Amino acid sequence: MSELTWVEISKKALNHNIQQFRRLIGPNVLLCTCVKANAYGHGMIESSQLMLKAGVDWLSVNSLYEARALRQSGIPSPILIVGYVSLEGIREALKLNCRIVVYNHETVERIGKVSERLKKKTPVHIKVETGTNRQGVLLNDLVDFAKAIQKYRYIEMEGLSTHFANIEDTTDHSYAMLQIQRFKKSISKLANANIHIPIQHCANSAATLLFPKIYFQMVRIGISSYGMWPSNETYVSYQQERHQGYKLVPVLTWKTKIAQVKTVPVGEYIGYGCTYQTSHKTKLAILPVGYYDGYDRGISTGYVLIRGKRAPIRGRICMNMIMVEVTDIPNVSIEDEVILIGQSGNETISAEVFAQWAGTINYEVTTRINDRIPRVVVQ
Ligand SMILES: Cc1ncc(COP(=O)(O)O)c(C=O)c1O
Repeated sequence: MSELTWVEISKKALNHNIQQFRRLIGPNVLLCTCVKANAYGHGMIESSQLMLKAGVDWLSVNSLYEARALRQSGIPSPILIVGYVSLEGIREALKLNCRIVVYNHETVERIGKVSERLKKKTPVHIKVETGTNRQGVLLNDLVDFAKAIQKYRYIEMEGLSTHFANIEDTTDHSYAMLQIQRFKKSISKLANANIHIPIQHCANSAATLLFPKIYFQMVRIGISSYGMWPSNETYVSYQQERHQGYKLVPVLTWKTKIAQVKTVPVGEYIGYGCTYQTSHKTKLAILPVGYYDGYDRGISTGYVLIRGKRAPIRGRICMNMIMVEVTDIPNVSIEDEVILIGQSGNETISAEVFAQWAGTINYEVTTRINDRIPRVVVQ
């Protein structure tokens, strides 16, 4: 590998996760995986191709930009754009055969006009607000909104969706239950108005793992397909409530290689701001990766893995470099492989451990690994 840093994607782990979800939801529920944010940092094109081969039915992305990249790489599957598509972008989204999530009249009107002009039947998914108060049509406005859509000959109301606010942060699922109730109410309100939408979906990873009764016709999973639990609370709830031994296998390993090994005397400062001073003769390895690559600058007490051993970070994370101590690791030399996230020997740095060091969540850790860094599929 000529690159200074790269991300390996395990095909075996991804297959394992997807196939487990396939079994969990059964054959009658569509499996939609979220490949937005560069597939949570795993490489959108590479991951999407593997996922579709492993049994995924639909892909969801945040933006037209991502949908375009998927189509340009030849991916034929249904694509649901869950984020905002600008009015100007709608024509392209339709031409790319994307499903758009709708929650405002201006978007519907534009889809109506463009689909009419293109003479193209266009499926849309209504997003209903059940308590996240992000995107979505208020429950009281839902029937009128759906009726407004019905006026457009070429728009097909294919989906009705919502999104949970508070499953991951707690083991108390009362707020999620309230949202489920509101979602069911939205379905019955539409039914009373004689509007039947065939694909209803609300379950993200946590809901799919914890609430098997609310899969409806499709689930939308992100983080868990990449082998990460949405949160510790979700993991605990799962263990308490279901005991099914479901195992998520992390898909991503982030690597670099050593650029220099050198020994500095006692009393020397390391890095910007002189935040670390050696208390003994210290062997350092310099790593050619930094916060530009997505390695959080806030980390000061983390470590990397070299030859199956922990090498603690010394001094500040730089834009393109990190200094680690290898005094106690024998035979370290230039271009030795370094694990930033992943496993080496008996040691593992999970995205969750990394997130703790950085004061954030696993989602942010992997999505922030710079898109420019190559994603390499390994067995
Ligand atoms: C609308 C929507 N659905 C599904 C997901 C997937 O969530 P998770 O990664 O927790 O499974 C996301 C992720 O943020 C989302 O925004």
